[in-house]
Amino acid sequence: MPRTEFIATGFHVPDRVVTNDELSRMMDTSDEWIRQRSGIRTRHWVSDGETGASLARAATLKALARASLKPSDLDCIVYCTCTPDHFEPGNGVFLERELGLTDIPAIDVRNQCSGFIYGLSVADAWIRTGQYRRVLLVGAEVHSRGLDKTTRGRDTAVLFGDGAGVAILGPTDDPRRGVLSTHLFADGRHAEKLWVDAPGLAHDPYISEELIREGRHRAVMDGRDVFKFASILMPQSVVAALQANCITPADVTLLVPHQANRRIMEMVQKAIGLRDDQVYVNIEKYGNTTAASIPIALDEALCEGRLERGDLLVLTAFGSGFTWASAAVRW
Ligand code: UT7
Repeated sequence: MPRTEFIATGFHVPDRVVTNDELSRMMDTSDEWIRQRSGIRTRHWVSDGETGASLARAATLKALARASLKPSDLDCIVYCTCTPDHFEPGNGVFLERELGLTDIPAIDVRNQCSGFIYGLSVADAWIRTGQYRRVLLVGAEVHSRGLDKTTRGRDTAVLFGDGAGVAILGPTDDPRRGVLSTHLFADGRHAEKLWVDAPGLAHDPYISEELIREGRHRAVMDGRDVFKFASILMPQSVVAALQANCITPADVTLLVPHQANRRIMEMVQKAIGLRDDQVYVNIEKYGNTTAASIPIALDEALCEGRLERGDLLVLTAFGSGFTWASAAVRW
């Protein structure tokens, strides 16, 4: 059976940069609070006319150009997002249309911050079994339009940003390279600790003025609990990846964690026993872009020359659900 390799990556963020000072003019917060608690300095927000699918398209065109491929070379789209452009259909078909394609399958993965690794697991299974050869794996989010930009929403509004990152995946016959493993986890007992209640068909009507007045269409988070579980379960997922592949922390060239909070990433680094140069962090520029954060960070790391052929890459994520996941990749 072939392994799955990363053929090319790409990312795109909107031009509009929003600073912490700009947020502190909208709500009762401060640059100092945001930097100290999260490590975030800026994030990017969409402007009129931009959508999740348009960000994903721009990221995809960069990756295709790097791989010297055309949209028509793609066999399948796996689109990971928790901020779809519309309630239905899923965003994969909108991206397919933006790429000028009409005849490839498009699946949406709704696993929030863990979405990219969940999607990688799906793509990896399809590639290894030969069902699809060239899979476009997308993590793309537009959070800014959904944020409560008043003091009521400050605990989440300052954290999230918009952006898209993609990977083009395909089979390799080199047994030493490619995706070595993916580990996926979920525990729905914590579903309401980070969630958007409405619109939802559990409500009748599924959206109403009352639901909106109560702010139930906004992301609500029990930040302390999310922080606590993330700090424990992300390291556990990394350990699962290391043990399954008989590798030690010293063997890891680069850990690319989901960029939720600099302090969480520091706790993961400490728990695993990694040096600073083994962990990639770019949250200061983009904030938390949920499913897009790992592919954006991975593409930046690659552009900075942080991974060479044969290096060991580990990915880990944690988020709403709770869901968490890891992947090990021989580059
Ligand atoms: O992507 C995966 C999902 N998300 C996460 O992983 C996020 C996990 N959680 C976190 O990153 C942190 O919990 C936060 C950054 C959200 C908050 O940091 P914290 O150190 O846990 O702060 P806290 O929630 O304990 O709040 C401390 C204080 C509170 O005031 P009181 O009750 O002590 O008077 C909050 O009301 O900070 C207040 N606060 C703010 N103050 C200024 C909350 N948000 C803000 C804000 N600006 N934006």
